[in-house]
Order: sequence, then structure tokens, then C-alpha cells
Amino acid sequence: MWMEPTSTIEDDSEALIRLENVSKRYDMNSIIVTALDSVDLQVDEGEFLVVLGPSGSGKTTLLNMIGALDSPTSGDISVAGMNITGAHRKELFAFRRRAVAFIFQSFNLFPGLTALENVQFAIDINKGDRSEAQHVLEEVGLGERERHFPHELSGGEQQRVAIARALATGNPVLLADEPTGELDFRTGVSILELLQEQVKSGKTVLVVTHNREISRVADRVVELSSGRIVSDGPSKGGRAAISDLHW
Ligand SMILES: Nc1ncnc2c1ncn2[C@@H]1O[C@H](COP(=O)(O)OP(=O)(O)OP(=O)(O)O)[C@@H](O)[C@H]1O
Ligand SMILES: [Mg+2]
Repeated sequence: MWMEPTSTIEDDSEALIRLENVSKRYDMNSIIVTALDSVDLQVDEGEFLVVLGPSGSGKTTLLNMIGALDSPTSGDISVAGMNITGAHRKELFAFRRRAVAFIFQSFNLFPGLTALENVQFAIDINKGDRSEAQHVLEEVGLGERERHFPHELSGGEQQRVAIARALATGNPVLLADEPTGELDFRTGVSILELLQEQVKSGKTVLVVTHNREISRVADRVVELSSGRIVSDGPSKGGRAAISDLHW
């Protein structure tokens, strides 16, 4: 587990991720939008967790808070022993670089970089071994597309580059926002398998989806509705092997 060595704001709770009474409100010309409403959540190291909820329920907002890409209006968040809400900018920078890896809902690939260069870029940031980039692209089934630029790739292929980029960081917490959203069933299944392998290798994986069927692969499903957690436990549809899913 990664720990920020210079952090002065340690906490000794055992959960890897802990949210306490977290709310996020947006003031839209005097109309208040509550994206997250008094959320309490704890996630242990090595958990495979799905955040399930309809569009607008606060899933991306929640993920962005955990990855320190956004800050709550009120409440406390700590991840990997660091109190994110009380941390300095410099500490947050190191945290984002070393603790979390994002698979964004909208890919966020660099348009001027090839598939391979997009993955190498993520490795360079962590001063890792660039030659790994090729290997990771092969892992997501894109070995043949490494010289393609994002606009020369299908939506599903771009998503797989985004996933390869996140895996290449080697960071212990994977935050995946609708990682199968753009993919056909078979490709989606292979991505879920990849994420499950990450859990087996000791990573903590949070997957956001609006698809209840996909949530059946996880150990634990946290359901959001209008910014609130409305259930937290095993999948209501029953846990299923990836090979038994249909969507
Ligand atoms: N920057 C913002 N300013 C104002 N409102 C926002 C902002 N970002 C999000 N919201 C609102 O907060 C709510 C939650 O948004 P969020 O993106 O977290 O939903 P989501 O569950 O990820 O939805 P989707 O499945 O469509 O991606 C929405 O109602 C959204 O309109
Ligand atoms: Mg979203």
C-alpha cells in the first residue's frame, strides 16, 4: 500500500478509503444541486467494489473525490492513510501520481499521442519502465494498434487504451468510471476480467456503472440514488461469474 512519506496528516483507521459525511453541492445561480449528500463509506484494501446508480446519481462525483480530483463541500475523506481533505497541494499531487489510477468516463487520451505514447506517458510520470507500455497494450488486446492515434481508434479501443494507461501506472487503487460503457459485450467481459485480475494481484478496484448486471461481478455493491447511498452489500441480483453475465 502506498503511503505519502512526508504527510503530516496521517490517520490510523484500517479502511483504505474512508468517507465521512461527505457532501458536494453546486450553486447554479441560486439553485443548489446536491451531487453527494452525507455519504459515509469505507473500503478495505483489496476490495472489488461497484458503485451502481442511474445517470446523475453522483457516481463520477464520488470517484473524483476519492481520487482527489475534486473536493467536497463538507465532510472528510482519507485514502491510504492520508487525509485528503486536509492535505496540502503538494501532498495531493504526489497522492494522485502514486496512489490512484483513473479510467475516465470520457477516456481523456492525448489526441496528439499514439496509443503507445499515451501509455508511455503514464509510465514516465511515475519514472517506470517504458518498455512495459507495449506489454500492457497487448494485455488489453491492442498490440496491433499501438501506432494509432486516438482519432484512428474506435470508442471501445480508445477505452482500452485508457485502461492500459491506468494499469501501466501500477498504482494500488484503480478508479474506473463506466469502463465498459463503450464496449461490445465480449470486449466488456474481457475488460471486467482484466479488472478482476487486478484485484487478485492485490489492488483495490472501484468500478462505476449504471448497469446492474455488471455489478454482479463485484464483492460488494454500493448503490447511489440522488447523491445518497441507498444500499451497500452483496449484489441484489446474486453474485455471478463474468462468464455468466448477459447485457
Ligand atoms: N460542475 C458541476 N456543476 C453543477 N452540477 C454538477 C457539476 N458536476 C456534476 N453536477 C451535477 O451533479 C449530479 C451528479 O453528477 P455525476 O456526474 O456525479 O453523475 P453520474 O452518476 O456520474 O451520472 P452519469 O451516469 O450520467 O455519468 C448531476 O445532477 C450533475 O448535473
Ligand atoms: Mg458519470
